[in-house]
Amino acid sequence: MQMNIEQIRHVGVIGAGTMGSGIAQVFAAAGYRVSMADVCQQALDAGLRRISDSLDRLLARSVISGTDRDSTLDNIQPSLTLSCLESADLVVEAATENPEIKSSLLQEIDGICRPETIIASNTSSISLTRLAACTGRADRVVGMHFMNPVPLMKLVEIIRALQTDDEVCTLAAALAVKLGKVPFHVNDSPGFVANRILCPMINEAIFALQEGIAEPEAIDEIMKLGMNHPIGPLALADLIGLDVVLAVMRVLHDEMGESKFRPCPLLVRMVDANHLGRKTGRGFYDYEK
Ligand SMILES: NC(=O)c1ccc[n+]([C@@H]2O[C@H](COP(=O)([O-])OP(=O)(O)OC[C@H]3O[C@@H](n4cnc5c(N)ncnc54)[C@H](O)[C@@H]3O)[C@@H](O)[C@H]2O)c1
Repeated sequence: MQMNIEQIRHVGVIGAGTMGSGIAQVFAAAGYRVSMADVCQQALDAGLRRISDSLDRLLARSVISGTDRDSTLDNIQPSLTLSCLESADLVVEAATENPEIKSSLLQEIDGICRPETIIASNTSSISLTRLAACTGRADRVVGMHFMNPVPLMKLVEIIRALQTDDEVCTLAAALAVKLGKVPFHVNDSPGFVANRILCPMINEAIFALQEGIAEPEAIDEIMKLGMNHPIGPLALADLIGLDVVLAVMRVLHDEMGESKFRPCPLLVRMVDANHLGRKTGRGFYDYEK
């Protein structure tokens, strides 16, 4: 069941959080009709606000026109149910990084969508092979791992599950290019490439903080000035969401079985306290909510 890129017109995005809203924005800006679904009305409202604020910033910098802004917003339909996916040609799942939630979502999406619809997951670390196996169309399941903030970051990791059809990987990469992104093909492995390297570095920065080696500002400035990183690891953890960083470390630790991937206890405590970073207004730094 082949599909070419022109046949993809309606994109379903599941999850209106940090990533789902960004993914909905970039598809809508590229002219796709987007249905953005979430289980929570507050999350949908916040997601739409984030998109509108992001478009306003791009407009203020003359990156887009007022017409671009309005047509992008017009292309996005929020939804509290998944029935909006019935006519989708592509679904990008960007719900909470939790294996049970994602497995049951993929099963549900599989039951709703047409047989030819491609299902992509934006998971940061969960096995695409396992997620694909939850569906009756494992060959049409692929990872599209966008980076945060989606409208600004160029990279998309295209993750091939063991079952993914070559043409589906090629199509996902072509779609990323159409969105103005740069795709790289990666095989299914815990954390893929980006998070296999990034999250242990962030985790180590949290150990440095826990051990009192330096204050958060010093740790971040050392990595910015010393390594030429544009943002320090603790500020980046706040941007990503500490719950997402912890979920990735748990997958790396469980699946690789190596102590170097153990989540830092301070990270675990901060997630227990709901100090998740920017999205809750408090993480390693404080933010206005
Ligand atoms: N935050 C990052 O920097 C980043 C980067 C790349 C990939 N990711 C991945 O993207 C995905 C989403 O992460 P996020 O940071 O946007 O999380 P988030 O917590 O900001 O948003 C997750 C959203 O999913 C919704 N949700 C939960 N269960 C759902 C369901 N059954 N149906 C529909 N919606 C549901 C929640 O209500 C919430 O709005 C995760 O898999 C994460 O690992 C995150």
